[in-house]
Amino acid sequence: MFPQGKTVFTSIIADCEFLEPSTAKLQSARDRLLVECLRPDHPTDYPIASEYPLVLAQNGTKHSLCMTQKGDQCAARGVIAHANIWLRTMLPDSGDASFPRVKLAFVGNVATEKREQGKGRMKALLAEIELRALAQRADAIVLWSDLADFYQKMGFTPAGNELRVTLSTKKLCAGNQSTVWMPEGYQTGKLPQDLIRRIFELRSTGFKQPFFQVERSVHEFSELLKIPDLAFFVGHGAGTTSATQTDQRPIEFFFLVGKGADMQGVIHEWGCTDMRFLMGAAGFVAKKANLEEIMILVPPAIEESRLAYLMQASTRIEQHAMAWVKVLKPETRHLVDRALRDGFIWGLDSI
Ligand SMILES: CC(C)(COP(=O)(O)OP(=O)(O)OC[C@H]1O[C@@H](n2cnc3c(N)ncnc32)[C@H](O)[C@@H]1OP(=O)(O)O)[C@@H](O)C(=O)NCCC(=O)NCCS
Repeated sequence: MFPQGKTVFTSIIADCEFLEPSTAKLQSARDRLLVECLRPDHPTDYPIASEYPLVLAQNGTKHSLCMTQKGDQCAARGVIAHANIWLRTMLPDSGDASFPRVKLAFVGNVATEKREQGKGRMKALLAEIELRALAQRADAIVLWSDLADFYQKMGFTPAGNELRVTLSTKKLCAGNQSTVWMPEGYQTGKLPQDLIRRIFELRSTGFKQPFFQVERSVHEFSELLKIPDLAFFVGHGAGTTSATQTDQRPIEFFFLVGKGADMQGVIHEWGCTDMRFLMGAAGFVAKKANLEEIMILVPPAIEESRLAYLMQASTRIEQHAMAWVKVLKPETRHLVDRALRDGFIWGLDSI
């Protein structure tokens, strides 16, 4: 009758249920599981939920799915497995209204309790995530992981590209004429809205059009900037002479380094009017942090002249797949492929 795999799958989901963590007890059981599985060697002095201020927020329970023993609503026996699901939209900067919006379900914080691993728990949880993504009309599921064998087995394939460019601090510092600072209030969500708007504009400058990015509100950006161990820099080039105070002048670049336990020493989101200004400032920051090199993640859609400039200061350039994807609707596969090929998912958006 049923193939054997199907029978096993059915018996596994029969003894458990899926809960959104709406109580504090369930949230702390979930966070314990995530620290055990995802941060075993990186004890941090901040709660794991603070690294994911939107999807692990107390009021963000709809993004979080816990597998518990059936009837164990308070998770007294702990959370068996967990994954986040976060519906995002990718759209082109050009404002090309003829291009449909691509809906992607971002998945992260994927973990199964150690004693429960290898029993099909995550396979069942990912099947539930897929159903929920479809119910929210997602075109595809997207996630980030080094576990190639596992995700290939789960039906995911590599998608998009990112260039990982390693830059020499020495080369960057030569001839640096930028002025860089950390804007006040970014760790408390108190950045002026006008500054955020200008940063969004810079993030779209200098890429081949149409350049697809994840839609992000001012509120979301402000919340994400609160992530611990994240440094946010803005500034301008030496050419910007003005009688006004340094931090009142128009900004010409910004960049973000680090994100909780992730991406330390990596510039994972940036934008500029001129690569020289950004590069000089990155060198200054790397020197202050005693780093001989700093890495920058670069969308392949970067304009050639900008890439050439980056290459001058680079010691290594690697090309990697940007994410893992599982297309849910065959009829929109070409849209998903195009958005991921011609666009970029910046570090702050990935979970
Ligand atoms: C990776 C992880 C989530 C898998 O969860 P799990 O509940 O043990 O997985 P399942 O039992 O549902 O496995 C489903 C299938 O994948 C296979 N599989 C499980 N882990 C695997 C791995 N690391 N590599 C390759 N295949 C794997 C299983 O053998 C099974 O294959 P089958 O269907 O042919 O029997 C779990 O091992 C874990 O939490 N690891 C630590 C945290 C982590 O690395 N999370 C991922 C971060 S992106």
